[in-house]
Amino acid sequence: MINEPLKYAVLNNKGGVGKSTISVHIAHGLALLGNKVLLIDMDGQNDASLFLGISDQDYKKTFYDLINKREDVELSECIINVRDNLDLLPSKHIDIINTEFYRESRIDLILKEKLQGINTMEYNYLIIDCGPQRSKVNDAVLCFVDNIIVPVQVESASVRAIGNIYEYLSDLRLNPEMIELIIPNMYDQRTSESRENMQLLKELFSESNFLAEPINRRVKITEAGKLGKTVYEYDKDSAKQFFKIVERLVSTNA
Ligand SMILES: Nc1ncnc2c1ncn2[C@@H]1O[C@H](COP(=O)(O)OP(=O)(O)O)[C@@H](O)[C@H]1O
Ligand SMILES: [Mg+2]
Repeated sequence: MINEPLKYAVLNNKGGVGKSTISVHIAHGLALLGNKVLLIDMDGQNDASLFLGISDQDYKKTFYDLINKREDVELSECIINVRDNLDLLPSKHIDIINTEFYRESRIDLILKEKLQGINTMEYNYLIIDCGPQRSKVNDAVLCFVDNIIVPVQVESASVRAIGNIYEYLSDLRLNPEMIELIIPNMYDQRTSESRENMQLLKELFSESNFLAEPINRRVKITEAGKLGKTVYEYDKDSAKQFFKIVERLVSTNA
């Protein structure tokens, strides 16, 4: 039986808001709950891979080799196992991939074609960590996924910029209802700026039910990333917060 995975993009046009952190922790959290998960690192900086302790010495082939027409490479050759139930598809030369995608006439079908075979690999979830800003790569990702997760840093500039994501979807003629979850990140209840912006987010999304509980700002999250560990392996308090989000995702799709 073919079991199509549920496909998520973790997206925000801003950098440094926690996209890679949240991608990794949603992916690993889902895996810890017994789901088979593939994390695709589509950001030029490879932070998602690094946060899992994987550097470019740990793999030979990447998503780039699937795009590079001179190579005859199978998808399975580019995927590595990084934790129980969790696989990773790394990437490199994302700027070259982007240029390559500019030439494609059907950007909406390109990933379906390049990642052909993924449906027979028995994944339950596919999580794609996106780079910041609009790009052909992100266009292709958004056309490929079922749903979008948007991390938002709890500070004014980030909260104000949420509208850009809706604009982006509208320009691609995609349905804004693809946004399944907005995750406030780096919340610090001791600062009034954090409290005020959290309040603003609640008001903005009062009509909908897709605002998640905030993830607190904790030094241990940064430390874990630098050590190549997830918070499930390093910090119980943050682990609890991420698990809540993961359980919510699972129950939304049950
Ligand atoms: N809740 C948090 N508390 C503390 N540091 C965080 C938190 N979320 C992310 N970070 C740190 O902030 C930096 C940027 O996060 P990252 O996930 O790389 O953002 P993006 O992918 O959006 O650029 C990283 O060093 C990461 O460890
Ligand atoms: Mg990132």
